[in-house]
Order: sequence, then C-alpha cells, then structure tokens
Amino acid sequence: MKIAVAKGDGIGPEIMDAVLGIFNAASVPLQYEFIEMGKTYFEQGHSTGMTPQAKEVVESLGILFKGPMETPKGKGMKSINVTARKTWSTYANRRHFQSLPGVDTVFSKAGIPIDITIVRENIEGTYGGIEHLNTNDVAICRRIISRPGSEQVVRFAFEMARKEGFTKVTCAHKANIMKLTDGLFLETFQEVAKEYPEINSNDIIVDDLAMKLVARPHEFQVVVLTNLQGDIMSDLCAGLVGGLGFAPSANIGDNISIFEAVHGTAPDIAGKLLANPTSLLLSGLMMLRHLGYVKQAAEIENALRYTLEQGTHTADFGDRTIAPSNTNEFADAIIKNLGQKPEFSKPRDAKNDVKLFVKPAKPAKQKMMETTKDATAKKIAGVDFFIETALLGPEIADKLKLHLGTNQELTMISNRGTMVWPTGSVFTECVNHYRVRVEGEMSQQEIYILLSSVSKDFYIPSHEVLRVYGEKKGYSLAQGQ
Ligand code: NAI
Repeated sequence: MKIAVAKGDGIGPEIMDAVLGIFNAASVPLQYEFIEMGKTYFEQGHSTGMTPQAKEVVESLGILFKGPMETPKGKGMKSINVTARKTWSTYANRRHFQSLPGVDTVFSKAGIPIDITIVRENIEGTYGGIEHLNTNDVAICRRIISRPGSEQVVRFAFEMARKEGFTKVTCAHKANIMKLTDGLFLETFQEVAKEYPEINSNDIIVDDLAMKLVARPHEFQVVVLTNLQGDIMSDLCAGLVGGLGFAPSANIGDNISIFEAVHGTAPDIAGKLLANPTSLLLSGLMMLRHLGYVKQAAEIENALRYTLEQGTHTADFGDRTIAPSNTNEFADAIIKNLGQKPEFSKPRDAKNDVKLFVKPAKPAKQKMMETTKDATAKKIAGVDFFIETALLGPEIADKLKLHLGTNQELTMISNRGTMVWPTGSVFTECVNHYRVRVEGEMSQQEIYILLSSVSKDFYIPSHEVLRVYGEKKGYSLAQGQ
C-alpha cells in the first residue's frame, strides 16, 4: 500500500524520519510518496501551500501522513492545515489522550489512568470563517451547524465505538443556550444513537464537561463535539495527559484522511534533534490501525510503552535525573525494544483479522448531502433585520412603523440579543447594531419591499428570514421576550 508523506517544516523532517525509521524496523508494509507541501511552497507562490502534483498524489492515494507545517504570518494566507482538512472533507477529527508511563501528571501521580477519545466536527461551526464587520463597532461570525455535517461526525463516533469496543459515547453541547444550532447537533446525536442500542449514549453541557474532565476524567470514553468546542476540549484533554507532545490526531473523511501530530513546528528547537517524536508516532499508529495494520501498530505501541517505562525520554518530559535522549536515540530505543511488552500497563492486543483499507474511487463531482427531514411545509413568518444606528429603542420603533406594510407587525427590537422594545430595562447598555423583528405572513418579495423602504432611514447590514418548518419555529426568541 502506498501513502503520501509530507515531512513538514521546523522539527517536521526530524520527527518524520524518526517515525518512518521505526515503521521500517517493524516491517510495516507501506510505500511512501514524498510530496511538496509546507512553508517553502507558499513562498514559491502556491497559495494553498502545496504544488498541484502534491494535491494530485494525496487525492489519488487517499492517505496523507504529515509533519507540522508553518503558515507564513501576516500575508493573508490561510492555514495549510485547515485548508487541507476542509478541502478534502475530513469531517471527523479524532484525538486520543491516554496516560503514558514516564509522563508524570497529577492524575498519574494519583493512580488515575486516563483514556479519552475526542471526536471533533472538523468542517463547519465557527471554522467556516464567515465573519463580517457589520458596523464600525460590531463584528459578527456565523456559526453553521448542518444536519448532514452533524450526522457524519456523530455516526463516525458510534461506528468507531462499535468497531473498537468502546461502551459509552457522550455528546457535549451548549443546546441550553444555542437551541437551534447546538440543538440540531444534539437532536442528530440522539437520533443516530438509537441505531447503536448496545452503546451507552448520554449528553452533557460543554462547561459541565470541562469541569468533569478535570475532576473525574476516567468517567469518559468517547466525547463528540462541534468544531470550536471540540478544539478547546481536546487541548484540555492534552493537558490532562502531559501536553500536546503526547496527543495524536487523525482527520477522517470518506475519501481522504490525514494523520498528523497535534503540536506545531517548534521553531525554537528545530534542527537540534531535541524534538519528541511521540505525538507523530502515535498519529502514525492511528493511521496503521485505520489501514488495517493492527499487528504492527500493537507491536510498536508496546515497544513505545516499554521504552517509556525504562525511563527513556526526550528533553521535554520525564525524569530529570536520567539524561535525555535526542530524537534519533529515542527512536532507536523503541526499535531496540520491538517485541517487548509493557509491564505496568495492559499491552495492546495484536489481532490480525482486520480488513485492509481500500481507497474509494474518486468522486466524479461534489456531493450534495441534503436530507428530507422537515423539508416540507416551510412557511415565512416574518423577518429579522439588523440596522446600524445610535438611536434608542422607542425612537427606532417610531421611525420603523412608517415603513410597515399590511399584515406586518413590529414585534421586537433587541440589542446584542437583549430585548429593548416594546419593553426593556434602562440598565441595558446598547451598541450601534440592533435587530428588528417584523412578523406576519409575507412573501420573500414583500420582505425586500419592506427592507428597501427601511433602507431610506437606516443602513441594513444583513437580514434573516423567519421561517416555520411544520410546527417548529426556525428562529430563536430574544432574551426577555
Ligand atoms: P508549537 O507546538 O510548535 O510549540 C509550542 C512549544 O512546544 C514550543 O516550546 C516547542 O518547542 C514545544 N514543542 C512542540 N512540539 C514539540 C515536540 N515534538 N517535542 C518537543 N517540544 C515540542 O506551537 P507554536 O510555537 O505556537 O507554533 C509554531 C508553528 O507551528 C506556527 O507556525 C504554527 O502555525 C504551526 N502549527 C502547525 C500545526 C500543524 O501543522 N498541524 C499545529 C500547530 C501549530
């Protein structure tokens, strides 16, 4: 089997060479096609940070094993890592956080082992990067949560649990506040969970999760979250097991998957052979398991754990009374220990009956994932529009009333989500960006006639149509409404 490999920038080449050396010593039956991707290729004028040939190789092989990469700062370039994950629809970001021997943490000292897998939605949410400066004082960011996008990542989490023997999957969210976006993610989770009755499923508010991960981490096995919440919680988990140096990451899609370390290019130690290759090695082991090479992955993981138990460590962690190894010495120690099993933790099972990965055929065109749920009986019930003004609620209402058509009722004006008209509090502090709600059955054309009229008095940076799907309101109420 052949995979694409990009060594990356900074410490990337040092740790990638160390990991591939371990793979070769363990007779991993992989061939590598090295591709041109990273900072140098940005500088040569490739706006995505990779050459067209590199893109073609990844798309034809379906697997990319990559070292960390630097995005040049302040030149308007988008992160090569985020671009790669999004372009190739790697919708599930799987990160594994486990206690490792020799890596001291408050939990290892208390004898509490940690083994948590975070599955983070990798494409949408705030990472759509859809942001606008609506007024000189107010910026907004649109957070897109879709039913198909949520279903992909939730289904991945349950399939992974079924295949790998996890007994519990938890959905973390903020559906108590964001009832429509996080509500959709949670609703999708609950629907998909019904198809996996043998797996315990539950949900938790994300701030409660943050507290419980720190207080009782051993209660969690698999946690699935939306993009930004997953990003934050996975770094919290990295902290629980000793830092980003021990956190592997897999970006899984239906066609292409990317395996990489969680940490960056560590420019402060690049070229000095001081880097710890563990995170990239653990990411490589996730890749071997994904490809079906579970026997080789188990052998290497057992050798890594045994090596750590012996006190072998790089300069960034471990027992200070034992001299640190450099990157190559650390990798050589693992190679020497291939065949050994860890004594103080459960050795990895070396089952060999797993099917090998088969690359799906290249899709002929982009995929539309529309569902039919709530697709019928859509009705317009009004419009919310935003206006820029330094006037206060009652003055705005008086001006707006002059523009309303028949069957159109001004029902609410809010500022930063808090209602300021028809009722409100004098203690509410306002900014120059209001939301106005006009309700009534109206056509899309009538909405534009209304907005056109209002635009004579106010600047309207954006608007949202109020829609009802069957019985369900497709819009939230203002605080205080
Ligand atoms: P960083 O993770 O590169 O470094 C933070 C600190 O951790 C540094 O002190 C570094 O020496 C240390 N460190 C990181 N990895 C290590 C390892 N394997 N062994 C020993 N020590 C290690 O984060 P930073 O400095 O914020 O970012 C540096 C560059 O990396 C930036 O250009 C950033 O954009 C890029 N980056 C790339 C990522 C990727 O390719 N997936 C992810 C994160 C950052």
